[in-house]
Amino acid sequence: PTLHVITPTYSRPVQKAELTRLTNTLLHVPNLHWLVVEDSAQKTALVSRLLENTGLNYTHLNVETPENLRTQKKPRNVRIPRGTMQRNLALRWLRENINPNSSHKGVVYFADDDNTYSLELFEEMRWTRKASVWPVAFVGGLRYESPKINSQGKVFGWRTVFDPRRPFAIDMAGFALNLQLILSKPQAYFKLKGVKGGYQESSLLQDLVTLRDLEPKAANCTKILVWHTRTERPLLVNEGKKGFTSGNVEV
Ligand code: UGA
Ligand code: MN
Repeated sequence: PTLHVITPTYSRPVQKAELTRLTNTLLHVPNLHWLVVEDSAQKTALVSRLLENTGLNYTHLNVETPENLRTQKKPRNVRIPRGTMQRNLALRWLRENINPNSSHKGVVYFADDDNTYSLELFEEMRWTRKASVWPVAFVGGLRYESPKINSQGKVFGWRTVFDPRRPFAIDMAGFALNLQLILSKPQAYFKLKGVKGGYQESSLLQDLVTLRDLEPKAANCTKILVWHTRTERPLLVNEGKKGFTSGNVEV
């Protein structure tokens, strides 16, 4: 099966560094299709050139998150979704470009540009029948969150502190989906509006699977194969001082 890896990305000082690191990971993954979706009105030259130079099999898309879904003019408890429209565009691309009746076999994974992925993870998810799940480190205020697995090897709940009653209390990095399932339910997308914090993943998974369908990976969810790392913003306070101009060097 082909792994369709969906990555939303947006312009900021560390973007090229993040995408370079993720590229270096994905270059080790066989049979991969990388869908990179820029959160921008136009495809940028930086990302276009970077992708061209990777030698990876990729599709470059873009859609800008509209201002009203970005800004903080919202009640405190309404979480502004990050990368949601971009992931949805990639889902639509798959539905429009892959014939469900073809013999093509695939698996879909949402890989944010800043996380850290072991190579083992990609081989674990490759054999997903409906939805695979595994632990994710550094989310929800814990060293790791994980599905809870019973003695029959089935998911029966969630090892999380934050709202374990969520239908799927799992981070974006903690699951992969069979492509046929996504193609067979063409209405299933991440919901954009009225989604409480932590419910984004559930908003898609609810339309596709039930708890019983989940396939625990990573040695029955006992191994950490992905880390929800976040990159520190670089200090750029001296930019523009003493005649330092940002210049035309791409960083
Ligand atoms: C957590 C989850 O791990 C994300 O999968 C989830 O989308 C996010 O929360 C959320 O609540 O929406 P976090 O580290 O806080 O992740 O989010 P980021 O890594 O900053 O953003 C997730 C992805 O969306 C990244 O690939 C990022 O490049 C992209 N993004 C972020 C955009 O495309 N546009 C933005 O304005 C911000
Ligand atoms: Mn992140």
